[in-house]
Amino acid sequence: MGFSAEWLALREPADHAARDAALLAQAAAFGGVIVDLGCGTGSTRRAFGDRGAGAVWRMVDGDAALLRLAGGEGHCLDLNDVAGLPFAGAALVTASALFDLVSADWLDLLVARVVGLRLPVYAALNYDGLMTWNPALPEDAAVVAAFNRHQRGDKGFGPALGPGAVVHLAGRLRAAGYVVTEADSPWRLGPDQAALQAELLGGIAQAAGEAGFAGAEGWREARMAAVDQGICRIGHRDLLAVPPERVVGKG
Ligand SMILES: C[S@@+](CC[C@H](N)C(=O)[O-])C[C@H]1O[C@@H](n2cnc3c(N)ncnc32)[C@H](O)[C@@H]1O
Repeated sequence: MGFSAEWLALREPADHAARDAALLAQAAAFGGVIVDLGCGTGSTRRAFGDRGAGAVWRMVDGDAALLRLAGGEGHCLDLNDVAGLPFAGAALVTASALFDLVSADWLDLLVARVVGLRLPVYAALNYDGLMTWNPALPEDAAVVAAFNRHQRGDKGFGPALGPGAVVHLAGRLRAAGYVVTEADSPWRLGPDQAALQAELLGGIAQAAGEAGFAGAEGWREARMAAVDQGICRIGHRDLLAVPPERVVGKG
């Protein structure tokens, strides 16, 4: 599915509807300098809306064209250089639809840096491996299994955590003493989001095919034929992790 501005724009309404509202509000309350990792065109900044208006947004992405659309203070960087991420003076680190792309080693390096700086982390819309359609097709389970195998391939950071990203991140941050709150943030796509569904089905089928599921294209065609009738649920999970001394009410 790539990271074109068009794809990011197509998914943004579904992303904004899916984000857990309580975690978003708690994250936005930190204010100050917010470092948005893999910011794309700035979806997290727009999701914060007025609540993030007083913040300084430090936008980090490796794609200069996306970064130009993101607003804020742009940093065109390769996220693989974890030590070089611009965290000086930050109040909050955010990321959306990013951590399922990264490896366990990368995430461990990031956790070490944020924990060292006592920074809260708000990570939204991490794919959790659960996709369902109603009405169902017999091939759905095999497609999801193949797609999830593909999700664990290398997306530029070494073997990706894919659907295991939030479990890994939450575990590491809890082990470091952070207070971690998680919430489901699934896309629920109906006939009114046919264009997003069509792109999504293409991307899922391509990945499932690359991961060895021979019937992927037939499945996509059958799913496309039913796109104006059914509903699909694409599972995501949001996470907010806060150092105990910064939990609201503890001073
Ligand atoms: C799925 S998009 C999410 C964008 C945005 N956070 C959103 O929710 O719309 C992932 C983003 O991570 C960026 N990215 C992926 N690998 C990267 C890397 N190694 N260095 C810097 N940015 C990277 C991509 O350019 C893309 O903008």
